Amino acid sequence: MKLVSIVGARPQFVKAAPVVRAVERHNLGGGETIDHRIVHTGQHYDDAMSGLFFAELELPAAAVDLGIGSASHAEQTGRMMAAIEEELERHPPDVVLVYGDTNSTLAGALAAVKLNLPTAHLEAGLRSFDRRMPEEINRVAVDHCCDLLLAPTPTALHNLHREGLEESSVLTGDVMLDAVLAASERAAARSKVLGHLGLAPGGYALATLHRAQTTDDCQRLTRLLAALESVATNVAPVVLPLHPRTAKAIGQRLPDWSPGPALRLTPPVGYLDMLTLIGNALVVLTDSGGVQKEAFFLGRPCVTLRPETEWLETVAAEMNVVADDRQAAILEAAGALAARFPIGDRAPAPPPDGPFGDGAAARRVVASVLRLADRPRR
Ligand code: UD1
Ligand code: UDP
Repeated sequence: MKLVSIVGARPQFVKAAPVVRAVERHNLGGGETIDHRIVHTGQHYDDAMSGLFFAELELPAAAVDLGIGSASHAEQTGRMMAAIEEELERHPPDVVLVYGDTNSTLAGALAAVKLNLPTAHLEAGLRSFDRRMPEEINRVAVDHCCDLLLAPTPTALHNLHREGLEESSVLTGDVMLDAVLAASERAAARSKVLGHLGLAPGGYALATLHRAQTTDDCQRLTRLLAALESVATNVAPVVLPLHPRTAKAIGQRLPDWSPGPALRLTPPVGYLDMLTLIGNALVVLTDSGGVQKEAFFLGRPCVTLRPETEWLETVAAEMNVVADDRQAAILEAAGALAARFPIGDRAPAPPPDGPFGDGAAARRVVASVLRLADRPRR
């Protein structure tokens, strides 16, 4: 069976890693062998956003890097679609697997379904119900054109059912939990980031900012940076590894801004350093989807710097407070969560029957993809 995984952005490398491992395990089992080809669109291309993840996650090199790079939404997506179409025609697979909600996901799904290739969407069914988010447009479009929808949580599955997509949906659990469980020991053994940055466990807060809504709105970006400054001064020093988009936005839109002494800006860090930084942070503040979940998996509380979250389960567990860009709410939530979850008193690891699954989501993904390959063609 020929499987193509289409990836292109940082979170997709993380999500692909457990699938790569599950395919390898499947192939050792003696059944039908899966030939797994990774196609990289080149959406992320800096070593710190791409190469480092392939190395740390021990991913095989992509069979091809389409080298699309950065551009406007339409240009980036269009160029990806043309290049993916050519690639899929040159090496026709039995199933195409797309991940998450980026422009690489949309381009991969559209190119594949228009070639009538059976196509599966991993991390299907997420909804913020905010169509101003480019990711929301991508999710809705991708879910409504793919043949198999792999939902990470019961909430995601419910969203798919509400949209009439019940027949193509299956609950797998979240592969990002598989990834955290697989990498935690390696992170503990290899990451030297705390020493390099002079940080003690529980002695800092970790922040990330990269959403378009954050970086493209000067006033919102200013409010969020001010909120991080106030957390840094009043709760704990803040470490902020900067996505290149955010570094660029600060340089262009806020040329006179510079961080105060307790707000530490760093380049983006690798996955193992990131898990270490999250797992030892007093509190995490983020507008990232993946980082909210990783904080939850690692037993650390989170303040979400967005108006809403797709990961309602983390809020229901009282480990995540959605504070948007309101400075007072962010400061209050960070202080309260830091007091409630001291570093030595971690929340227990997610239970095996928790909303994100049991850490074996990728095995279910592979089983579902094999069933899709066996279905009669449209
Ligand atoms: C993309 C996804 C977003 C995801 C994020 C993960 C879309 C629409 N957005 O956002 O959902 O959460 O990836 O990180 O697909 N840049 C570099 N080097 C790189 C990559 C990007 O400098 O290796 C800079 C460029 O200036 C580029 C900007 O970052 O214009 C934005 O990159 P892009 O891939 O368009 O979107 P992200 O903001 O990374
Ligand atoms: N990540 C990382 N280094 C960083 C920032 C993020 O390794 O400096 C990881 C993070 O741990 C998670 C993934 O990248 O596994 C999430 O990517 P991002 O926040 O860019 O995208 P999102 O999840 O919001 O789509």
